Amino acid sequence: MPHVVTDACTACRYTECVAICPVDCFHAADDRLYIDPDGCIDCAACVPVCPVKAIVDAFDLATGSEELIALNRQRSRELPVIDGKSAPLPTAEARRQSLNP
Ligand code: F3S
Repeated sequence: MPHVVTDACTACRYTECVAICPVDCFHAADDRLYIDPDGCIDCAACVPVCPVKAIVDAFDLATGSEELIALNRQRSRELPVIDGKSAPLPTAEARRQSLNP
């Protein structure tokens, strides 16, 4: 199963995941990222580097969260690839604290 970006990324966009991804499968919206499930090689390198634990193996998603896989697929087709690290969003630290990962 591919990995997916969850809503915890919203308002954060730390992009530590992008820096470590070997296949450039992240796509960027203004407020968060998505993973192209067809490009993800399931290496899981991105999972431990996200400060808010926003990336999960789709296999581990709770029942009822399957739409997250479709959302990542759909949005990754609509949005450009992000292939380098960028500064976190100005809201990232407050959002991180509110999530208490
Ligand atoms: Fe988002 Fe975490 Fe990557 S906040 S941009 S999934 S490092």
